[in-house]
Amino acid sequence: MERVLPRGRVLAIVAGAAATAVLLGACGSQAPSSSDDNLVAGKQMFVERCGSCHTLSRAGTKGTVGPNLDAAFRQSLSDGFERSVVRGVVAEQIKIPLRGGKMPADLVTGDHVTDVAAYVAESVDRKGQDTGLLATAVKAPGQGKPAVAKNGVLQINADPSGQLAYVTNKASAPPGRLTVKMGNESTVEHDIAIDNGGVNAKGEIVGKGGTSQFTVDNIPPGTYQYFCTVQGHRAAGMQGTLTVK
Ligand code: HEC
Repeated sequence: MERVLPRGRVLAIVAGAAATAVLLGACGSQAPSSSDDNLVAGKQMFVERCGSCHTLSRAGTKGTVGPNLDAAFRQSLSDGFERSVVRGVVAEQIKIPLRGGKMPADLVTGDHVTDVAAYVAESVDRKGQDTGLLATAVKAPGQGKPAVAKNGVLQINADPSGQLAYVTNKASAPPGRLTVKMGNESTVEHDIAIDNGGVNAKGEIVGKGGTSQFTVDNIPPGTYQYFCTVQGHRAAGMQGTLTVK
C-alpha cells in the first residue's frame, strides 16, 4: 500500500483494512457488493445512524460532525482504489472507529455492517440521485402534513428516521399563548427553538424518547422560523416556517 492519499486517516484505515484482509487471506477477493447485500436496508440504516454526522450526497444526508464521505473517498477512488476497498474501510470504521475520536463504535451491528458499508461504497462520490427501490427507501425530509396548533399546543416532532429534519417544515397557530412541543424518537439529539420576529424561546436538547418544549405567553401574528439549535442541524435543513394568524 504505497500510494499516497491526501487524507491520512483514510490511508491509515485503508492500510488497516488491507492488513486485516491479508491476515484473513482474503486480499482483493471481496466483491464490491454481492447479491447478499441489502442496499435498501443499508441506505435506511445509514440515514438513521450515520447521516446526522456525515454528508453523503446520494443518501441526502448533510451531517457535519464527521468528514464528508463523498470527499473523503474521492481521492482514493480517483487513485484507482476499488469500491470494494472503500467498503472494507467503511466496515472497519464502523467496527473500530478511531480511538479517542467522536464516532461511537458499533452504531450498527451484524448484517447491517455489511449492508451499510456496501451502500456507502456504492454511493460515495456518485453524481445524481438514487434510482429504483433505493430512491424510495427513505422518505423525503420535512414533507409530512403541516402541523396545526390545537388548544394552544403545537406538536412538531423530529424526523423519527434520524434525518436532520422535523416531520414537517410547515406549521400554523393562532396568536396568543402557544406551547411548542417536539417529540424525539430518533437516535440523534435535537431541540426546537424560535429566535426571530421578536420571539426568543428554546426547548431543551433531548435524546430518544424525550420532548423538547417551550411556551410563548403571547405570540403575535407573523411568520417565524423554527429550528434545531444543535450544531449543524439547521444548516442541514432542520427548520420550518410557523405562520401565526
Ligand atoms: C456522532 C457522529 C458520528 C456518527 C453517528 C458516525 N460518524 Fe463516522 N465519523 C465521525 C467522525 C468525527 C469521524 C472522524 C474520525 C473520528 O473522530 O473518529 C468519522 C469518520 C468516519 C469515516 C472515515 C472517513 C475519513 O475521512 O477518514 C467513515 C468511513 C465513517 N465515519 C463512516 C460512518 C458510518 C458508516 C456511520 C454509521 C454507521 C458513521 N460514520 C456514524 C462521526 C460520526
